[in-house]
Amino acid sequence: ELSFIHRYEPATDPKRPPLLLLHGTGGDENDLLGLGRMSSPGSALLSPRGKILENGMPRFFRRLAEGVFDEEDVRFRANELADFVAEARRAYGLEAPVAVGFSNGANIAAAMLMLRPEALAGAALLRAMVPLSSAPQVDLAGKRVLMISGAMDPIIPADNSNRLAASLSASGAEVQHQMLPSGHNLSQTDLSLLVKWFGQPG
Ligand code: MLT
Repeated sequence: ELSFIHRYEPATDPKRPPLLLLHGTGGDENDLLGLGRMSSPGSALLSPRGKILENGMPRFFRRLAEGVFDEEDVRFRANELADFVAEARRAYGLEAPVAVGFSNGANIAAAMLMLRPEALAGAALLRAMVPLSSAPQVDLAGKRVLMISGAMDPIIPADNSNRLAASLSASGAEVQHQMLPSGHNLSQTDLSLLVKWFGQPG
């Protein structure tokens, strides 16, 4: 028994990296399977359900208010999720996955990059914000990160996502940050950018 409720789909194209799919607040392990299949056809998909419940809505860590995080819990949950990834890699025989996270799922993926960089080969962060007020010293050399943010996102000020991109770059990650004229919700443009990014050689 693995430590998170999850969905798993084996790869059909061995050249594609496994994806770790991380849903937003109120989502579950089924939400991002379609996005994962379209973004990187043939990738293995590993999709856990966040263990925190906020008024019945699953999340990956606790928050005190919208955009105000319980950072002790962020740290605990990022480590717990990285441990799950290690378990799942052994159970299913996987390489380190590329995270594809939306909103709360993107935020826990960003925290994992900072706290447990070995857990992820890279990450696509959709509508992410700075997860920890002081970023740990970490070496992200060789990791590709796609960030797609919304200039009119009511939850995430553009300045906040820009700071996250800068911090990941400063740690050595190969960051591509796209600022779309959109809000918090995903659009067809997000999907096109994901497909393009996954199609580029690592
Ligand atoms: C978070 O709590 O991670 C952010 O506020 C995004 C969200 O899930 O609404």
